[in-house]
Parts: sequence; C-alpha cells; structure tokens
Amino acid sequence: MSLSRRRFVSGVAAAFGYAGLWPTDLFAQDRLGQPAPGRRVPLDLDKVAKLNNNENPYGPPESVMQAMHSAWKWVNRYGAPDGGLSGAIQELHGVKAENVILGAGSGEILNVVGITFLLGGKKVLGVEPSYGSVYQQATSIKSEAIKLPLNKDYTQNIPALIEAANTYASQIGFIYLCNPNNPTGLIVPKEEVKQLLDRIPNDMPVLIDEAYHHFVDSPKYATSIPYVLEGRPVIVTRTFSKIAGLAAMRLGFGIAPAALIQRMRPFATGSQNVLVKFGGAASIKDTAAQQKVKALNMQVRDKTTAELRAYGYEVIPSEANFFMVGIRRNVQAVGQEFSKRDVLVGRPFPPMTEHLRVSVGTQDEMNRFMAAFKEIFPAGTMSVAVGQ
Ligand SMILES: Cc1ncc(COP(=O)(O)O)c(C=O)c1O
Repeated sequence: MSLSRRRFVSGVAAAFGYAGLWPTDLFAQDRLGQPAPGRRVPLDLDKVAKLNNNENPYGPPESVMQAMHSAWKWVNRYGAPDGGLSGAIQELHGVKAENVILGAGSGEILNVVGITFLLGGKKVLGVEPSYGSVYQQATSIKSEAIKLPLNKDYTQNIPALIEAANTYASQIGFIYLCNPNNPTGLIVPKEEVKQLLDRIPNDMPVLIDEAYHHFVDSPKYATSIPYVLEGRPVIVTRTFSKIAGLAAMRLGFGIAPAALIQRMRPFATGSQNVLVKFGGAASIKDTAAQQKVKALNMQVRDKTTAELRAYGYEVIPSEANFFMVGIRRNVQAVGQEFSKRDVLVGRPFPPMTEHLRVSVGTQDEMNRFMAAFKEIFPAGTMSVAVGQ
C-alpha cells in the first residue's frame, strides 16, 4: 500500500497529538533544522512557509543542477573527480590547496575547529547571541565558552572581546566571530575586525564565520580571507548552504594558514559527495546567479522590514537573508502561534528572547508571514499578550 507523503505526515501528527506536539517539537529543532535526538517532527515542507533556518528559498540555478547531473556517472567510484571544486576555491580566494579544508557543510568545519583548538580544556570566546553551534560543541567536549553580551545596538562588542582575549589569554583556544552575525544580521565593520586581530595575542586563532558573506551590501564590510594570506592565525569558513541553495547537499570549506589546516585535517572526515562537489564548482562560477539571489533577497527583505516598521515594530537592520523583529513578547510563545498558521519562524536566541528571527523567503512566503503577523499582533494591540 502506498501512502502519500502528506497523508503520512498528518498521520504521524495525529499519532503524536498534533496540537500539543507540533509547536514544541519545532522549537526542538537543532541548528541544521533536524529533529533533536529522540524527537519526531511532523513537518510537511511542501505546506509550510519555512522561515526558520535561513535557507535559500529559490534553490540552486540551472547551471548547478546541470553540473550535478553530469556527476552521476561517477557515483560508483572512490576517488571520483571533484568537478573542479578545489581549483575553483583556490583560484577565487588566491590560496593554495594547503590552505583549504572541505567539510560536509561549514558546520563540519566549525566542529573541527572546536575539537582542534579546545581539546585539552581551552575555551572559546565570543558574543551571545551568535550561531550557537560552536558554543554547544564546546560544552559537548567538556570545554567551555566565554560569552560576552552584545552592545545596546546589538553589534558585537569588539573592545570587550579584545579585553577578554588578553585577560584570559592562557585559557582561550580560539575566538569565534560570526560576520555577519546570526541571529542579528549585523556586520562587524572591517576596521573593527582589524582592531580585534591587531590587539589580541598574535598567536590566538580566530574563527571568522562568513556563512552569510554573499548577502552583505555594506561598504563597511570586507571578507577576512586577506588576513589568512598575511599568515595570521585566522580561519574563515564559507558555506554552499545559503547563497548557493545547497543546504541539504552539505558542502562548506575553511580557509586558513597551512599550519592550522594541518592541525585541523585529522579531525575532518575528508568526505563530500561527488554531486555536491560538481555543483559547488559550478556555483562558484555562476556569479550572475549569486547576484540574482542577493538582489532578490534584498528586495524581499527590505519590503518586509519596511512593512513591519510601518506597522509599528522595530527591526534590526540586517545585511543577511534573515532579520530580527522586536515583538515585546516571548518568542517561544509567538513561534507556536506562527507554526499553527504553517509559518515557521526562528527559535529563541537568549538573551534576545523578545526578538523574533525571520528568514527571508520568497515574496509569497513573506506575504504569508505578514498575514500571520497581523493576525497574531492585531493593529493597535502591540501590548496584548500572545499565547499566554
Ligand atoms: C552562521 C552560520 N554558520 C554556519 C552554519 C552551518 O551551515 P552549513 O553547515 O549548512 O554550512 C549556519 C547555518 O545556518 C550558520 O547560520
């Protein structure tokens, strides 16, 4: 007997008690949108407006699909060609093979950095909230994270990071800087990145997570890859999950001085599938497609955030494919209200528990978001309790 996917999903939902388990389980999703271990998540991805994981709603362009299609002939081979991926990364960033480490998503590289530089009891230093994966991993390997608060305007406090790096130098394994930061969408301006690197101990590794690099438009921002070329102990990570639309294919990379890459390699799987390698190479070359996604993202993001502001809500000005809106209510409760309306929004990011992170979807998805928002927050009732 064959069951349609939708019927199967709703059957599971019924079995688990739809009303009670759906919202709770959505917030149990981990950083990659997977169910937390031991949980079942009745998600019908064809039905929901999925604005909770900062994905690319358009998917990969034709050039990338074609390249991936051409890689099928190699799927039975170990040591298959890489579709030109390594060469394309090296050429784009002006680095050598010894400076590049590939991962199944940049998440793998973040983990590898954690294991490499924290084992033995060292700590990671960064701000909170940020992309929590690095901090969670530190905890999971019995290390710790030193997390500093953001500034009042939600930017990262670089002088405080510099001070902590010097004060606790002997305890710190590396600094984590997410630029632009997830969940705020705010950049660390290039001058401040330089200040940080110039004023911390010169052998302290700094992991600079540029997952959202391609969406940034501000002239105050710059990639930190040139610092690797200068030989500073900087590791820059990039992903194909965002601008390239290949989140489920799992590909990312890190760029760092050869000595750091050598320390990291033993902890990496060194294993990515041939389809995504071909797709990744094609994606790097298709800069027109990247520009199109960037422009669409800006257009849809700026329209939605303008509507929210006109409706009376504060929005943090984002440079990425997501933004945060101040809702003056607890995100956990409001998130459940959205999920009841088949709109998935970001999980809570303590201590910013009254700021909702919303990924930028298609215009249609954002229309659904705005309609849900207006239902949950009726005009003129900004202070009415939601889900309480
Ligand atoms: C800041 C940041 N870094 C890294 C990642 C991991 O992405 P991936 O493992 O898909 O490359 C994410 C995912 O959302 C992210 O937001």
